[in-house]
Amino acid sequence: MIPYCSICWDIDKIKLLDQRKLPQEEIYLEIRDYHEVIEAIKTLAIRGAPAIGVAAAMGAALGALEINTDDPREFQRRFLDICREIAAARPTAINLFWALDRVQLLVQAHADEPVPALKDYLVIEAQAMLKEDETTNRRMGQAGQVVIKEGMQVLTHCNTGALATGAYGTALGVLRAAWEAGKRFTVWVDETRPLLQGARLTTWELGKLGIPYTLIPDGAAATLMHQGRVSLVILGADRIAANGDTANKIGTYSVAVLAYHHGIPFYVAAPLSTVDFAIHDGSQIPVEERSGDEVTHLRGEPVAPAGAQALNLAFDVTPNELISGIITEKGVLKPPYISSLKPFRSPQE
Ligand code: MRU
Repeated sequence: MIPYCSICWDIDKIKLLDQRKLPQEEIYLEIRDYHEVIEAIKTLAIRGAPAIGVAAAMGAALGALEINTDDPREFQRRFLDICREIAAARPTAINLFWALDRVQLLVQAHADEPVPALKDYLVIEAQAMLKEDETTNRRMGQAGQVVIKEGMQVLTHCNTGALATGAYGTALGVLRAAWEAGKRFTVWVDETRPLLQGARLTTWELGKLGIPYTLIPDGAAATLMHQGRVSLVILGADRIAANGDTANKIGTYSVAVLAYHHGIPFYVAAPLSTVDFAIHDGSQIPVEERSGDEVTHLRGEPVAPAGAQALNLAFDVTPNELISGIITEKGVLKPPYISSLKPFRSPQE
């Protein structure tokens, strides 16, 4: 049992582990106002595509509780405004929009019911989405752990553990399932500049799981691969286009090119809710650009001269031809992804 959770609902409030403070401090924020949820998503107090989705649904539920009207139509109008505000928090992870679409459809489906009932449905739905995320990740772990073999040296980028999801993790969930199945392997953890999700969060989670790891600077991956010290790469996704092109944390594309060059399998692990069937390829994925301060500063301390220009693209897009397999809760999908993803497209997409 892992003694922490990224996010949970507690009667009339959200509790979330403030990931900005990890690994030094384990502080849970208690949030009663949906504006604070938006702030938590923007500032990465909660982050990782599936966790952002759950936070959005819970934020929408909090917002619904704050609406003061008995008129279902008025409630619905104000609820849509709240969802629009939450949707503007971050642009890349599709799970945010997926979660908000789902709660809006729920409200539409019960449009004529009394407002207190609508509020109850939304609170129940947000909690159900958290639970479903854990079930999905455990299935993904079971489906994906076959790619992890005894003695492997696995490289991962960013953070894809329980912190980045409702529970259990995606790529880290696959490693966890393999470990629980008795396989023994080691993990190279990319530090993941600029915000160090690998150094701060993945090491913290692997340590709690008892999985041996070594932290490396992002630039070390090439040399380790050249030396034959990387058996496989596994990482997560923020949005996958219908053709398998995958947006993930900046630096993922470099790792994919390196893995391809060295003939090393490169796997993406993500729930099907991360697939955006509405877009054909990665060129249509919106890539978040964050403040250059995150590059010029490390945890508040300047590492560049005052006034230095910095570009901070938070994600990059890895072309599908560099991806050996996409691990989902329905199994390990193989290229061409346009065909292997197709059965999971819902009729309205
Ligand atoms: O900016 P972040 O920390 O939200 O970026 C997170 C990632 O890129 C993760 O790799 C991705 O969301 C997969 S999480 C299971």
